[in-house]
Amino acid sequence: MAIVLPAQAEDTVVSGDALRGESIYGRCKACHSLKRDRTGPRHCGLFGRKAGSVKGFRYSKAMINSGIIWSEDSLDAFLTDTRAFLPKNRMGYAGIKDAQERADLIAYLAQQNRDPSVCN
Ligand code: HEC
Repeated sequence: MAIVLPAQAEDTVVSGDALRGESIYGRCKACHSLKRDRTGPRHCGLFGRKAGSVKGFRYSKAMINSGIIWSEDSLDAFLTDTRAFLPKNRMGYAGIKDAQERADLIAYLAQQNRDPSVCN
């Protein structure tokens, strides 16, 4: 019996390593924290949240009107090239080119959001 393995696809979903993602999140901490709004909005509650919807945080119109719902996919797209994905947003960070680094970072954010001792 032959077992046919699928050919490696170009857009294979990269699975993330939350531990590595924690150190990559260091780049975001210049402006963000999980629990508190700083230069950027808090990242607790991010998954399933409508972009631009943390109360009291002053977002750009671009972010508020974007219609984005944050998910692993939309975060990946945004973080690849923030300005190309959402022109006129006010986040002063160009993005992360490396798909594995993005996947690790998103895995870390997802893990922290699942942890009630962090995000509650
Ligand atoms: C130089 C400061 C800065 C850095 C560094 C930064 N951000 Fe931001 N971020 C912001 C600001 C300001 C906004 C609000 C943008 C707007 O309103 O257009 C934002 C918005 C966001 C949002 C939208 C959140 C929401 O509530 O809709 C996400 C997601 C995000 N940042 C993720 C990240 C991640 C992940 C990193 C690290 C790779 C990062 N940011 C690095 C300043 C920063």
